[in-house]
Amino acid sequence: MKRRSIILGAAAAAGLGWLLRPGERGADHAPYFTRLSGALDKAALAKPTLVVDRSRLLENVRTLVGHTKGRFDYRIVAKSLPSLPLLGTVMEASGSNRLMLFHQPFINQVARRFPRADVLLGKPMPVAAAQNFYRQFDGGGFDPRLQLRWLLDTPERVAQYDELARALGQDMQVCIELDVGLHRGGVRSDQQLVTMLDMMGQSRHLNFCGFMGYEPHVVKMPVGEPATYRDRAMSVYRHYVDVAKARLGQDWPADALLNAGGSPTYELYSEGQYPFNELAAGSCLVKPTDFDLPTLADHVAASYIATPVLKTLDTLEIPGIDLGAVQSLWDPNRARTFFTYGGYWKARPESPQGLVNNPLFGRSTNQEMLNGSRNIHLQPDDWVFLRPTQSEFVFLQFGDIAVYDKGSIVERWPVFAEETRFAPS
Ligand SMILES: Cc1ncc(COP(=O)(O)O)c(C=O)c1O
Repeated sequence: MKRRSIILGAAAAAGLGWLLRPGERGADHAPYFTRLSGALDKAALAKPTLVVDRSRLLENVRTLVGHTKGRFDYRIVAKSLPSLPLLGTVMEASGSNRLMLFHQPFINQVARRFPRADVLLGKPMPVAAAQNFYRQFDGGGFDPRLQLRWLLDTPERVAQYDELARALGQDMQVCIELDVGLHRGGVRSDQQLVTMLDMMGQSRHLNFCGFMGYEPHVVKMPVGEPATYRDRAMSVYRHYVDVAKARLGQDWPADALLNAGGSPTYELYSEGQYPFNELAAGSCLVKPTDFDLPTLADHVAASYIATPVLKTLDTLEIPGIDLGAVQSLWDPNRARTFFTYGGYWKARPESPQGLVNNPLFGRSTNQEMLNGSRNIHLQPDDWVFLRPTQSEFVFLQFGDIAVYDKGSIVERWPVFAEETRFAPS
């Protein structure tokens, strides 16, 4: 090949590469976030803060109730809304006193705060954790014999709980976890189910009260339609209900609690006949980014991390081999640099639009670098907003939630705290 052709070819490739550069995506805060920034300033907040927009939260509750009302009872997944006043708000707005809990200290806190709650465990607990619940339970209106439903997954666990119940002289409601296709535990055979039911039948203290079968996998399969996987999961669920009814006959509880669902799947049951009678969901009410799913298109984002900008640079500079200039030349969304107060949360930058992390500079939980285009005019002390990818752990990292409603921070909601009190045996 001639030298001239090589030079022309290289120039054409460079030109084509230039045309393929990322497009400009930056923009200053939309009015919603400008208003929210003003509200945070007015409330004298100046550190990373978890914000819940109460109007949007209530809009999501109305959406959920619109799908479930008259078809299924609704159980509030407490781990995804980990704050007593937040749960109280959702209980009032949805009219549900049913909660699903996943952490022993939080069960004690819920029992203390909501004496009328009906609590179902969302996962099986070591029997020692159950024992700790009873040790730390300090009475009040909540009656664990009737209002607390432990979740058991194996015959071994049934034996352990039976022993604890006998030792405490304590009647217990117990539900059985079913594996309806997720393969994260639970009953996997008729034999196992029958053994567990028989053991419960022989127990003086354990009362079988129903099933829990969780099926988030049905919307996460790489191929095929969610409806196909939903129907497969439901035929497994129906089968186990039939097996239990046949085994228990008259002893099948008239008010059996048959739980299914979660945020990703609950809207798949808005029509049709299914073997369960209550749906659990929590995350969809605040909608972190993991829940930006086609099945939740009618839910709105209602939670943000707000954090102050500490420093700005009109360039991108990376120490050592300085590839910052190259990065910003290639990508207009890396023209400017902003360092935020804290960072590296399970969260994605949301506003101003077009902010990105910088993998070359690296992440920081102390002062995180974000890059943005020249269309972003953030100054030190301005706010940056991120959306959590999930709520259950992220919400616990910022102290009291700042509750935003129509232009103001109207309340602060404490989040669940780990119990530090020593419980003597
Ligand atoms: C047993 C069970 N039910 C329901 C849920 C749904 O929770 P969410 O609606 O927050 O996704 C979960 C979440 O992990 C779960 O483990």
